[in-house]
Amino acid sequence: MRILFLGDIVGRDARKTVLSKIEYFKRKFKTDILIVNIENAAGGRGVTPKIADQFLNSGVDVLTTGNHVWDQREIFSYISNSKYLLRPINMPDGSPGLGKTEIKFANGNKVLIINCIANLFMPDNESVFKSIEKLLLNVKLGEDYNAIFIDLHGEATSEKTAFANYIDGKVSVVIGTHTHVPTADARILPNGTAYQTDVGMCGNYDSVIGMDKKAAIERFLSKKSYLTVAEGEITICGVFIEVDDFTGKSNYIKPIRIGGTLKSTEDN
Ligand SMILES: [Fe+2]
Repeated sequence: MRILFLGDIVGRDARKTVLSKIEYFKRKFKTDILIVNIENAAGGRGVTPKIADQFLNSGVDVLTTGNHVWDQREIFSYISNSKYLLRPINMPDGSPGLGKTEIKFANGNKVLIINCIANLFMPDNESVFKSIEKLLLNVKLGEDYNAIFIDLHGEATSEKTAFANYIDGKVSVVIGTHTHVPTADARILPNGTAYQTDVGMCGNYDSVIGMDKKAAIERFLSKKSYLTVAEGEITICGVFIEVDDFTGKSNYIKPIRIGGTLKSTEDN
């Protein structure tokens, strides 16, 4: 199974750039499934129903989120009726929406997509370790699903790395989101889980993690500034993974960076 995941979409120009390239990406990487983290798509804060629909209608299979999922109030009713816009699964019981979903393919293969949120330096939620451990008691890789993909939304590199190693071999993929900075540690862990601590954002890197530099710097000096998205030339950051359909283990992972400020990983 060929999986393409794109990191946090930050703002209008990132939305436009990614939407314009979806068909190209699907052809280039011959994707079976395309997953996008969309939690900063609406002006850097959350996602609206219109934006979610734009991505799903343009060929994205599943949208993931994180701590900003509730920033746009109209998303509450939308997410309650959506199978393909996820919120972190370890948010408190009673939170609207789903934290996981599955896609079935014509050949009978099934993939489970889980969105979860880490605990260190993040809003208070259930333990991500215990929540996912409990879920995986009843979900077996290679038996119930041909692939299991996890978007782990979190701040601390240590926590994300510990989590991935904790469930190494029980899921196909753990990819970190939230920091908006891609890490250079994409690899396959010893028991077959593909991992990258953070995939990075789809946004303008001539910024402070996607926000206007001047306001972001001012916030560290006086704390009196209002952050706005740094629109401009976009680097699309993502990761491509190949999973063995029989075992559910990953056999290939490749980070992707295209356009904008960061050095490209692609020839074209
Ligand atoms: Fe976040």
